[in-house]
Amino acid sequence: MFRTEEASSFDSDGTPAPGKPREISQAHFGMIVKLVYRHCGIALGDTKKAMVVSRLSKLSRNLGFESLDGYLAYLESHQDQESSIEQLLNAITTNRTSFFRHPEHFDYLEKWLAAEAEKSPHPEHPLRIWSAACSTGQEAYSIAMVADRIMQEKPGFKIRILASDVDTAVLKLAAAGHYVKAALNEIPETYRSFNHLDSGEDGWDIPPRLRSIIVFRRINLLRDRFRFSSPVDVVFCRNVLIYFRPPEQQQIVEKIAAHLRPDGLLFSGLAEASILPATLFKSLAMNVHTLRIRDSESKS
Ligand SMILES: C[S@@+](CC[C@H](N)C(=O)[O-])C[C@H]1O[C@@H](n2cnc3c(N)ncnc32)[C@H](O)[C@@H]1O
Repeated sequence: MFRTEEASSFDSDGTPAPGKPREISQAHFGMIVKLVYRHCGIALGDTKKAMVVSRLSKLSRNLGFESLDGYLAYLESHQDQESSIEQLLNAITTNRTSFFRHPEHFDYLEKWLAAEAEKSPHPEHPLRIWSAACSTGQEAYSIAMVADRIMQEKPGFKIRILASDVDTAVLKLAAAGHYVKAALNEIPETYRSFNHLDSGEDGWDIPPRLRSIIVFRRINLLRDRFRFSSPVDVVFCRNVLIYFRPPEQQQIVEKIAAHLRPDGLLFSGLAEASILPATLFKSLAMNVHTLRIRDSESKS
């Protein structure tokens, strides 16, 4: 099972407010940029100002402030309060995701897991897959559908999934596992019928069997130490590195490399393969990577 330090302690774009467009001073924008960068590493350039204004306007309304300025003044005086930072990060992160996003990744995973089950049908420990920026859960549940089918076919073979994100609001939605009717269309027919997925007008729920193989935790990829008890077999770290600057990207990638099984897999987003240093990773397929074991290590 997964055991991390974080385990124990373990997109929607905002819409502009109705009426008069809201503004934000350069000083307040600077404060937001600094806080977001300090607490989760996301780099907000000037081009993101309109997005920030829009999302924080929505947050200030939800929190009951009469104006965006009122919220900003509050934030200024509560910068050290964990809950204020959590609300800010939850508002700023971009959480766009879908089931079976980049479908070729799930085909690759299915074949790889089938080969693993063939090689070692009764392993001592479950194989572990980490969805490292899981947003509202669609990525983790897509992995679970693939993993579950393999486990049904090979009953001695066990797979467990850790799904994490820095945003506690999306994690709550992910753990609830309730989705709108239209989301069913993102799931390949074979998995829909295998899991008897069907939707009423008010949506549908992830079956308990799939939920039971996932644990959801808050993990900040940049600021938290990953204290896994043993190497992770597969990591999905997709469409999140793009939000960081190169130094933070390298830091995260190196941390992942340090916790990945030597012949394990790392799935990246479509625009993220070039972020991975060739000294650490080699490509197996489009945006599927494995560790590049140094010649000296592989010979010993
Ligand atoms: C665009 S979503 C990607 C979701 C999913 N991986 C996919 O590809 O569909 C990016 C996610 O990264 C999360 N995120 C941003 N900064 C993070 C950090 N420092 N640590 C962990 N997650 C972070 C956001 O909260 C968001 O849910």
